[in-house]
Amino acid sequence: MILPIVAYGDPVLKRKADEIDSSYPDLQLLIDNMFETMYQAAGVGLAAPQIGKSIRLFVVDGSPFAEKEEDEEDDPLAEGIDGFKKVFINPVIMEETGEEWAFNEGCLSIPKIREDVYRKAKIRIQYFDENWQKHEEIFEGYKARIIQHEYDHIEGILFTDKLSPIRRKLISKKLANISKGIVSVDYKMKFPVAKKGR
Ligand code: NI
Repeated sequence: MILPIVAYGDPVLKRKADEIDSSYPDLQLLIDNMFETMYQAAGVGLAAPQIGKSIRLFVVDGSPFAEKEEDEEDDPLAEGIDGFKKVFINPVIMEETGEEWAFNEGCLSIPKIREDVYRKAKIRIQYFDENWQKHEEIFEGYKARIIQHEYDHIEGILFTDKLSPIRRKLISKKLANISKGIVSVDYKMKFPVAKKGR
């Protein structure tokens, strides 16, 4: 089932999400629905707060990145990105290392806006998968980048929070319009501010 994606301005996107345990009801169905929702919106990651649930869960599939990077097969940042499909439950980033690098990020909750965001190159993360197996892994390149962006969502942080005050000011009108639903988007969204006169 495709779920509506919560738009910029909804308080659920600003909340630090709660951990869950294995008794969480219908978890596998929720995960399936999140993948379906992410794929139809052509995203590479989706965090539970983006479908209105303030829990520490996100899904990723970096495969579309691989298609985009086809002509740059030697791009070391894209290594292993094809088929990089994972579920992260109760993740904890233990360490972020390496040099910060800029990447032009977007977000399904903030349609039609892309901005350069600086993040460190490498992360070490602990998490549970959908079978409640615990993992500790190191990720780099685009894999790390996708995880860092989604991890921010469960911390109540959006990529726009990481921009310089000048950049944020330049897009403030667009952001306000997104909250009101004044944006053209080809997937189902839930807008926090009611449109006047409708
Ligand atoms: Ni996002």
